[in-house]
Amino acid sequence: MIPPSFIQDLLARVDIVEVIDPHVPLKRTGSNYSARCPFHSEKTPSFTVSPAKQFYHCFGCGAHGTAISFLMEYHGLGFVEAVRELAARAGLQLPVAPAPASQTSARPEEDIGGALARAAQYYKAQLKQSERAVNYLKGRGLTGEIAARYGLGYAPDGWQSLASVFSDYASSKALSAAGLVVDSEGGRRYDRFRDRVMFPIVDQRGSIVGFGGRVLDAGEPKYLNSPETPVFEKGKELYGLFQARQAIREAGLVVVVEGYMDVVALAQYGVGYCVATLGTATTPWQVRKLLRQADRVVYCFDGDAAGRKAAWRALGNSLGSLVDGKQVAFLFLAEGEDPDSYVRRHGSAAFGKLLAQALPLSEFMVRELAAATDLRTAEGRAKFLQDAKPLVKQVSAPMFSLLLRKQVAELAGVTQAELDQRYEIKSLSPRVAERRSAPKPSILRSLSEMLAFRPELARLLEPRHLDAAAELASADLPAPELELLRGLIALGRERPDIRGIAEHFRGTPLESMAQQVEAASLAWEERKLDPEALAADVAGAWDQLMERLRRARISALLEKASRTGWSAEDKELLRSLQQRNAPGFREATPE
Ligand code: UTP
Ligand code: MN
Repeated sequence: MIPPSFIQDLLARVDIVEVIDPHVPLKRTGSNYSARCPFHSEKTPSFTVSPAKQFYHCFGCGAHGTAISFLMEYHGLGFVEAVRELAARAGLQLPVAPAPASQTSARPEEDIGGALARAAQYYKAQLKQSERAVNYLKGRGLTGEIAARYGLGYAPDGWQSLASVFSDYASSKALSAAGLVVDSEGGRRYDRFRDRVMFPIVDQRGSIVGFGGRVLDAGEPKYLNSPETPVFEKGKELYGLFQARQAIREAGLVVVVEGYMDVVALAQYGVGYCVATLGTATTPWQVRKLLRQADRVVYCFDGDAAGRKAAWRALGNSLGSLVDGKQVAFLFLAEGEDPDSYVRRHGSAAFGKLLAQALPLSEFMVRELAAATDLRTAEGRAKFLQDAKPLVKQVSAPMFSLLLRKQVAELAGVTQAELDQRYEIKSLSPRVAERRSAPKPSILRSLSEMLAFRPELARLLEPRHLDAAAELASADLPAPELELLRGLIALGRERPDIRGIAEHFRGTPLESMAQQVEAASLAWEERKLDPEALAADVAGAWDQLMERLRRARISALLEKASRTGWSAEDKELLRSLQQRNAPGFREATPE
């Protein structure tokens, strides 16, 4: 665990402009820099970098973050890797995590990671010992080099093989938490993976988070996977992504296949930009991750019914994540063929040709919908329109949505205007529509934005006064917004010179809201208010907020009293609230 204070020190030392500029040449525009966004294709620059605030934000695709995030998203580094690289540039020493006081107090994730890494080492060594396993991999056309690149191993055929490397095999909590062993009801413990070729699943930072194990001959199940653990969430990992990063970047393309073996076999044949899901449907999270790293994502499925079904699910999970200028396409192999067998039979050039001809997502979607009905009849066309509606409405990429609607309208024999009306799609472009109908930013949002702009103003505010506010959360004063404001006040008071505010909320439920608020601080900069006016605005907004909370507390009290009657304290509190001298008013509580 890297302490948050180190992250702040680091961000204060490096300059995000110097980190980004060598990869994405930046142009000065006023006090900020801009460029065409590296995370989506665009003609006009919407990627903005704020040297004062040390963050980047894309007004087109919403990409947002610090120098750390940039290294993670642009180079596909893991968080720790990115921090390490920046620290090296800034000449800072990465703090060494304090050694756990005892085995039991170590964080379980660390134990799990250690256990998985040790098991992987063991499986690798065992592969060298097993002629049978080596022959199996050779028989599948793999060289030692590729096996090493993917860390392939072999779990021997014994019930407790891992006991030879884990002296605490019988009692180790980490072993079971990592899913490496199974505890039987009778209290006996045995290895989960036995007599299987082992495919380590590696996360973005290169740590092993789980395994897939394949039987060597016919046996059930063919593949056995690690269960989900605190370090392994199947919907958020992609097999082979760690090894594929560079090839993806070079090709601008990533291919999603179904099997581990497909990824490894394709890599063997020089097609290095492939990843696989972990025996599950592609999740929106995975799609977004891939679309940030490549301009084109091709799903490659078997040509059978199961493959089509899987493709349809992948389509449903991709629609919401599409970005204009990026492409998602589908490639169906002939029945009975998978990427592994295909590339072995026809070679990588032929596979490359297939990829180039993959079916664009829109065509696949319209084709499947049309196949499910009879477009020659009015009833059939009505069904087509009905079926397409929920899919079309998931698409938020403006250009893509427009083209999709045109296509659907044409096939259904209606005009695009008619379709938009049926689909309740506003004719304004989404962003204009948003601007016109956007409600005035809430008081909470304004306060948060102003603090993101000038964190030092937090000294005017007392976070304690929001302590009771969580219980008073309402539609008007939503709990997450209150929570974020509290966090921002605390941060600003602690570090008035803080940079990369959203960074502080990384991995929390408030992360994306913090990013939006931080991005909005760019607009505050443009307003060029003088510092005193801004301080007055903050103070005024705070008073308004306190007044709202006061009223909310009064109604909560009245409501409670109508249910349970009045206590003396309640009466006293009500009186003080009505006289506006309850805690929370700046005037009433000088600091
Ligand atoms: P496939 O059955 O298509 O296997 O499973 P494959 O990749 O072609 O494997 P080989 O060529 O026979 O070795 C594709 C993926 O589905 C998951 C695994 O993630 C596998 O890579 N799967 C499959 C399981 O999780 N369990 C199974 O029993 C089978
Ligand atoms: Mn196969």
